[in-house]
Amino acid sequence: MRPTGGGEVVIDELEMMLLDVIYFILRNSVRVFLRPRTKPIDGELVLITGSGGGLGRLFAQEFTKHGAEVVLWDVNSSPNEQTATLVRALGGKAHTYTVDVTNRADVYRSAELVRKDLGRDVTMLVNNAGVVAGERMLDCPDELIERTMKVNCHALFWTVKAFLPQMKAQNHGHIVTIASVLGLFSTPFVEDYCASKFAAVGFHESLAHELLAEEVEGVKTTLVCPYIVDTGMFEGCKIREEVEMLLPPLEPQYCVEQAMNAILIDQPLVCIPRLTYLPFLSRALLPWESNVVTYRFMGSDKCMLPFIESKKKQMANGPVKTTNRDHLNGAVQGLWQCAQVRLFECRFRRLRLRHFISQELQHLLCCVPLGHFLTRSHSFGSLVAHCHLYHGKSSDRRGEIRMGRAELLMGWLALSEGRVPAGQGML
Ligand SMILES: NC(=O)c1ccc[n+]([C@@H]2O[C@H](COP(=O)([O-])OP(=O)(O)OC[C@H]3O[C@@H](n4cnc5c(N)ncnc54)[C@H](O)[C@@H]3O)[C@@H](O)[C@H]2O)c1
Repeated sequence: MRPTGGGEVVIDELEMMLLDVIYFILRNSVRVFLRPRTKPIDGELVLITGSGGGLGRLFAQEFTKHGAEVVLWDVNSSPNEQTATLVRALGGKAHTYTVDVTNRADVYRSAELVRKDLGRDVTMLVNNAGVVAGERMLDCPDELIERTMKVNCHALFWTVKAFLPQMKAQNHGHIVTIASVLGLFSTPFVEDYCASKFAAVGFHESLAHELLAEEVEGVKTTLVCPYIVDTGMFEGCKIREEVEMLLPPLEPQYCVEQAMNAILIDQPLVCIPRLTYLPFLSRALLPWESNVVTYRFMGSDKCMLPFIESKKKQMANGPVKTTNRDHLNGAVQGLWQCAQVRLFECRFRRLRLRHFISQELQHLLCCVPLGHFLTRSHSFGSLVAHCHLYHGKSSDRRGEIRMGRAELLMGWLALSEGRVPAGQGML
């Protein structure tokens, strides 16, 4: 006997829901074999964060090939310019901005600037910038853990808040989050990364549900969860050899093409490769202990140790020796950006950078016989527009660099911990 009144409505809606569930399961199964038509994106304005290298650069090129105009945001200006050059070589339009996505003031200001410069709104946002500390949690400086959370998770809030309102107003847009399979299941020794990517997945899914609950059907979302990609981010990471034959690190180009396929059909979630849906499912369905033994068998329980080891070696082995000026620029810019971020946060904006360089940091910089090295900061504009690094006490003036990553990190930490008093400038 069917209930009457409110009960009948619930039963009807339940039946409808079950039919819908079955329909979407069937539709998505068919889509695995018969791909739906892709949407045209020529004329879209696509903003990509972390576009200075790796996947971000390839995304810029792929979107260009599909006729979109790209806005490139990266904290590193010179590699970002290289991406723009590649985009222009493909006949596309690229606009570069040096933005630290962890700095919300910088994000909001740059978003306004993009609007003003281009006279139009961003219609697709690809949140791609990402970092990993690469150290065991108990050895890892707090600042590095914080940085992972800020880049991989907090930044998503700032960029979405900057660009979603216009998309909603026009009921047109697309938000893409490049998370990771490590946002769906975890692996040991990368707690910072897993935590930040689980957070990114949570953020993205909640946002996607919100847009649907508000019936903003024109703003689409795609969550991209790749397995290890061969960009160098997890260099050294190794699972059991026999399993690695089944699941080798992804070619960056393949990864981006798969992600593009998903974006262009408005697919809400894509795991690359498909095989990685399996551990995602087993995490949800199997007992914890079953997953533990599977991890052990596959070598996933210790796969990050060689990666951490290789990162440690890079840091501790000290002197990176090169006569290549570009390499030198990269190393110094790393320190420079860290210093800028800290300085910005410390609200020392109006003062000259040299006043904040302590003897300690100068000593570190002395390890670099830089000669008369000029660097520029877009984000700090006139503040550090022409800053000459310390000429170095070293007599070596052949332009040889002797600066290890450990030293760069120490310099950064000195700044982070406020051990860099003002007014001792020697520049
Ligand atoms: N490489 C992998 O194995 C892998 C696997 C799964 C997911 N992912 C994700 O894919 C995305 C791209 O990774 P990738 O391998 O190309 O990394 P990558 O290191 O090659 O590139 C990351 C880019 O982000 C930029 N960036 C870092 N901090 C920034 C900041 N504060 N503001 C602006 N830009 C910043 C860097 O300058 C760099 O250009 C990341 O979100 C990463 O977590 C990577």
